[in-house]
Amino acid sequence: MVLDLKMSRIWCILFLGGWLALSQGTDNPGAIIKLDIGTIDHAVSTAVAESDILQKMAKEATKKKPNIKPIKGISGVKVKDIRPPVITLTLLPGKGLFMAVLIRMTIAGKSFIGGNLEITVASNLTANNKLLKDALGTPKFSSENCHFSLVSVKTNLPSSMLPKVLNKFLDNTLQKMLPGLLCPAVDAVLDLVNAKLSAMTSEISLGTAGTLQYALLNQPTTNETFIQLDLKTVLHQKEGDEIDLPTDELPLTSLPPKKEAATQLILSANFLSAELQVMQESFSLDITDNMVLGLPPLVTSMLGTVIPEIAGALPPSQPLVIAMREAKPPLVTITPEAGFVHFFNTAEFLVSPSGSAPESLFVLDVHSDLKARFVVKEEKLCISLALDSLAEMALASSSIGTFDVLPLKGVLANIIHVAYMPSINEALQGGIPLPNLLGIKYQQAEISMSENALVLNVPVAEA
Ligand SMILES: *[C@@H]1O[C@H](CO)[C@@H](O)[C@H](O)[C@H]1NC(C)=O
Ligand SMILES: *[C@@H]1O[C@H](CO)[C@@H](O)[C@H](O)[C@H]1NC(C)=O
Repeated sequence: MVLDLKMSRIWCILFLGGWLALSQGTDNPGAIIKLDIGTIDHAVSTAVAESDILQKMAKEATKKKPNIKPIKGISGVKVKDIRPPVITLTLLPGKGLFMAVLIRMTIAGKSFIGGNLEITVASNLTANNKLLKDALGTPKFSSENCHFSLVSVKTNLPSSMLPKVLNKFLDNTLQKMLPGLLCPAVDAVLDLVNAKLSAMTSEISLGTAGTLQYALLNQPTTNETFIQLDLKTVLHQKEGDEIDLPTDELPLTSLPPKKEAATQLILSANFLSAELQVMQESFSLDITDNMVLGLPPLVTSMLGTVIPEIAGALPPSQPLVIAMREAKPPLVTITPEAGFVHFFNTAEFLVSPSGSAPESLFVLDVHSDLKARFVVKEEKLCISLALDSLAEMALASSSIGTFDVLPLKGVLANIIHVAYMPSINEALQGGIPLPNLLGIKYQQAEISMSENALVLNVPVAEA
């Protein structure tokens, strides 16, 4: 039997010593995002495609501008066509995001000789965009040094026909008109991208447990290939206090390097612990006989057979209830090899005769090691747990005298496996919402484990 094998292993497992005190701490990131340039690129082109920026630009261009003189010889000037801009993004280490936008448009009007005049202009717009943290901890691009240059100008008329008028038109009009038209367009694109960034800091409901909010911990930093966002993870219990992350003991060190063409999300074990702490109430369970189908009946006589020394002190065969309660918040530990959740329960054994109030027999302190499996479902991190071992079990109190609890270990491990684990896994089904920004799809993430952290590599979406 699988359970028997597991049990023999349980006997051999030593107590995992020196577990960690929870301590106050707000300076360590609960999560880190390394935004790949490809992810930013995709967000920018999606924003442009989804918006009506081009239409707005064309409309703006045909408005009469008070400070621009009409051009002699050309009338009825309007923007006839704007081609989708070609946007090139480059990361400037320490500076931010450099954006070059190539815009091609055709301007039409009537020439003095009566014919239709068409001028096709290609212009190059560049701007430095800094990603900054605002007062609420929201990342926000702001653009500076918008610079405009004409790349090429072509007309449908032979240049010999209109050189002077054309030159005047270019000098006086295009150079004046286009920056005022196009630089706001860069801002408009950034506004759209900013909207996709600010979604990250909305408070997210964790169902009945509480809320979660991601926010920037400090100013983003820029590398050749990525922008790093250190996030704080603010967890609030429903109608309760903020949960502090356990800190210091499980620092984010020796993180794996960022992969190429992937945005990396790192979730600290501390954050996952705090998240489970918020959910702690839903881990309480009263285990009764009808939950442990397939195991010996959960009655007082079963206890007597397992521990003969208490048989005399037990009431005659009556139903038992095991009340599982969290004594301390769960603790998540992660190494490159495996992820574990450590549960610290009290298991109170009560005799529950029909028609009268349950009576406590004894209480065990139980530390169980649960092996964790992580998957992303519907953009949430889902954890499922399986009992690996009962690391420690001790008698905390007893109304029927002291006894050696060791013979009970296998029985309790079986009961936890059959009844308690399914209940915990159900409580965990809601999952942990992941930072929502720039349309990143965590569903496609490749998940791996590192020292004290879970690492999600999200491949850059195809353009
Ligand atoms: C636009 O300007 C940038 C910066 O000056 C330059 O690197 C890029 O090659 C230019 N693009 C075109 C099409 O001229
Ligand atoms: C990225 O920046 C960090 C510091 O912000 C630095 O330690 C690291 O070496 C840089 N990596 C690359 C690939 O430039």
